Amino acid sequence: MKAVVAENLTILYDGKPALEGVSFSLDEGETLLLLGPNGAGKTSLLKTISCFHWEYTGRVEVFGREPCEARELIGYVPQSHSLNERVPLTALEVVAMGAIYRRGFVHFKIPRETMERAEKALEFVGLGGLGERLFSQLSGGQKQRVLLARALISDPKLLLLDEPLSALDPSARAEVAGVLSKIKSRKGLTMVITTHDINPLLDIGDRVMLINKRLIAFGRPEEVLTDDVIKSVYGPLARVIPVGGKLFCITGDVHLHRHGGGGR
Ligand SMILES: Nc1ncnc2c1ncn2[C@@H]1O[C@H](COP(=O)(O)OP(=O)(O)O)[C@@H](O)[C@H]1O
Ligand SMILES: [Mg+2]
Repeated sequence: MKAVVAENLTILYDGKPALEGVSFSLDEGETLLLLGPNGAGKTSLLKTISCFHWEYTGRVEVFGREPCEARELIGYVPQSHSLNERVPLTALEVVAMGAIYRRGFVHFKIPRETMERAEKALEFVGLGGLGERLFSQLSGGQKQRVLLARALISDPKLLLLDEPLSALDPSARAEVAGVLSKIKSRKGLTMVITTHDINPLLDIGDRVMLINKRLIAFGRPEEVLTDDVIKSVYGPLARVIPVGGKLFCITGDVHLHRHGGGGR
């Protein structure tokens, strides 16, 4: 069974299309890198797949079910987490929240069993010793790893990540990319990852999709990441350079938009 199928999917806001006529499918265990400039429709696609946005035409299925019927199979790591950092939650509590919200109610006391699962999830992302630290006091890379642990605690089969590297410096990017690689190899999850900077993730991308209000290209990385395709979306300065048998993409877009507000 396919993990994700979209057929002629058009996503709308108040009747106006944001992303039009997209078709693709992902096998179980595959990782898709989703690329496109700001406003291309990346977040809208993730939200539609995960039942956070409902206005669409065409077909979209997650493990053979409509998104809203498949919610317990899906983990979502939003671009800007909505945690109020003035609430003094520890890393462990943030992770445990992933399990608690899922059951549809909030406990005042987190059950022992949930705490143990949270500890395991934190260990998995390499933060075993930091459970009692306040979330607000962690580094950017550590926070992102806590949020990965929070998404993993409910054991999803499909993990959607919206720009998990965008707020990080290069060393933290490598740190988080390393955890994503571990999730892929150890847990065999299907993942969709949106990113401006594809380079730290190229090793784990089985498929690359480029969108800009519509589908520009979808396929294996070496099929999609060509000079012509990249230039058609990011302009004449963009290019793809092979470095030691690997591809390196320069999309110019990165520096213009990385700090530009609009982080939906
Ligand atoms: N809640 C919303 N209401 C109206 N329009 C929206 C909303 N969210 C996104 N859009 C529009 O949909 C398009 C795609 O946005 P988005 O999916 O956030 O792109 P990306 O994540 O690639 O930057 C944009 O034109 C944006 O203005
Ligand atoms: Mg977005």
